[in-house]
Amino acid sequence: MQLFLDTASLADIERLAKLGVVDGVTTNPALLAREDGDPVAQLRAVARAVAGPVSAQVTHEGEKEMVAQGRALADVAPNVVVKIPAHRAGLAVAKTLAAERIDVNVTLAFDPAQLVAFARVPVAYISLIFGRTEDFGAGDRERIAMAKRILAQLGSPSKLLVASIRNPGHLCAAIEGGADVITVPPSTWDLVFDHPFTARGLEDFQRSWNALPEPRRRAYEALGEER
Ligand code: E4P
Repeated sequence: MQLFLDTASLADIERLAKLGVVDGVTTNPALLAREDGDPVAQLRAVARAVAGPVSAQVTHEGEKEMVAQGRALADVAPNVVVKIPAHRAGLAVAKTLAAERIDVNVTLAFDPAQLVAFARVPVAYISLIFGRTEDFGAGDRERIAMAKRILAQLGSPSKLLVASIRNPGHLCAAIEGGADVITVPPSTWDLVFDHPFTARGLEDFQRSWNALPEPRRRAYEALGEER
């Protein structure tokens, strides 16, 4: 299983790569819009900063325009993967780009049924959007495993990428559901690494330890000092 970072921020990529959780990156137009400067330059910089795949989404709606923009995005850097929406026009675009051996990430699929037609196209990734469904009161973790089974049963070569991971519970659900790739935003990693109960537990243990008279703590605290 791979972990991608859901961001267009170079600072976030740098700090989370140090923690070993950046096998690739996914951007979308909203994430690129949050960054300063020219989005093409930003995408190029992100692609240079990451050894793995970097997804970038088309912003046009027409089929012809999406194909042209997809080709151009793929030319920005060799590791760019073109994100195409999981709708009617997106299917034709995905077929064209995949036939040209351009890596495609089919995105914004909410229902496993949306994967069926795309499973016949050799796209690199199919992204099931998980957290965002909870905005509509439709959060259902079983959909992840269902999507995985559907892709396997239909003989799809694509990796199931689970996206919109807004909290640690979503991350665990995506792993348990059998995601091949999970794209996690920096804010969710912050919730994981800065768990308040961990800080509280450390405080409790330290308070008890500090209550020990110093001579009894001395040998333990000196361990490793001379190494
Ligand atoms: C990923 O590829 C999606 O663009 C992203 O995960 C969406 O996340 P959000 O629903 O939290 O905006």
